[in-house]
Amino acid sequence: MASLNGVEYCKQDLLDAQAHVWNHIFSFVNSMSLKCAVQLCIPDIIHKHRKPITLSQLVDALQINKAKSDFVYRLMRMLTHSKFFINVKISDDDDNENEGYWLTPASCFLLRDEPMSMAPLVLGVLDPIIMDPWHHVSKCFRNESPSPFITKHEMSFWEYAGTEQMLNLLFNDAMARDAWFCSSLAIKEWEQVFKGLKSMVDVGGGTGTLAKAIAGALPGLKCTVLDLPHVVDGLKGAENLSYVGGNMFQYIPPADAIFLKWILHDWSDEDCLKLLEKCKESIIPSKGKGRKVIIVEMVVDDNKENHKAIETQLFFDMLMMVDYNGKERTEEEWAKLFYAAGFTSYKITTLLGLRSVIEVFP
Ligand SMILES: C[S@@+](CC[C@H](N)C(=O)[O-])C[C@H]1O[C@@H](n2cnc3c(N)ncnc32)[C@H](O)[C@@H]1O
Repeated sequence: MASLNGVEYCKQDLLDAQAHVWNHIFSFVNSMSLKCAVQLCIPDIIHKHRKPITLSQLVDALQINKAKSDFVYRLMRMLTHSKFFINVKISDDDDNENEGYWLTPASCFLLRDEPMSMAPLVLGVLDPIIMDPWHHVSKCFRNESPSPFITKHEMSFWEYAGTEQMLNLLFNDAMARDAWFCSSLAIKEWEQVFKGLKSMVDVGGGTGTLAKAIAGALPGLKCTVLDLPHVVDGLKGAENLSYVGGNMFQYIPPADAIFLKWILHDWSDEDCLKLLEKCKESIIPSKGKGRKVIIVEMVVDDNKENHKAIETQLFFDMLMMVDYNGKERTEEEWAKLFYAAGFTSYKITTLLGLRSVIEVFP
């Protein structure tokens, strides 16, 4: 037994508590190791090798200082532990190395040429522009600024992205890859959600990856992508797809359905209310069924048993707070917003793992 803060604990409880604190302090090691692997294109090198790669083959392919081989070994040990790579027994090498690294589904998501690649998200979220505001969180709690991002950069993320081309491209690319993921996994489900409608506006639809997939699957549906001018400038539409540059808080083109994927979590309750009211005004009045706002977002559920899933939702919530003054919401919080904006009912369908489709009816 030993005493901590005046309470007697058994030795093991204290050791576990110490390890828990260490684990939290060093959690950034997971993210930064992943960033390093993506920057060095390690998943792409292994993929190009077409079979498990030994450490010396990997060091050769990386074209790095040979004296750093041990660094590569330790980075790969870390990322193998966290299931981004696996060790596979091999027999045909000349170096007497009998193990090679191979990809897992998680590292396949980091391949640059994969349409659903999460490499741009890794590089975007872990870019110093997004990371620096984390050093200003406690300061922001005490000042008048709406978010740590604004505390640090003195402008919102969207204003920053409008002036910094590299951030704009990286962010739009990350969003487009996610949109590809969502359309590939659930195009049949999207068809059901939009079936019978004549028009939809994808508000904050980025460069239009998901709208393109939906427009392709449903030729009778007129799809419009509305986003900020620096996002959609120069993009060409197609037969039933068009782009509009503008501010969603000022004008949303009229349509049977308004689609909001990963928009509302970027904004405060006050801004979401304004936006939902604007969406309601833009829905074309008709007696026909199906007119609605379609939202793709997380529904934070503290009661779920899955600790990792909840933790990931809470990570997103903190990211939204720090970089956008937004939030991830529970069902109760969503319902409050919908009814306050004048909608009469809603339906939640769990479709994409941690994210749901929420249909909201006028
Ligand atoms: C998190 S991204 C989501 C992109 C896309 N819906 C997706 O899920 O792939 C948010 C989008 O909202 C757009 N946006 C931010 N403020 C906006 C505004 N005032 N008017 C229109 N679009 C805006 C951003 O440019 C960005 O494309």
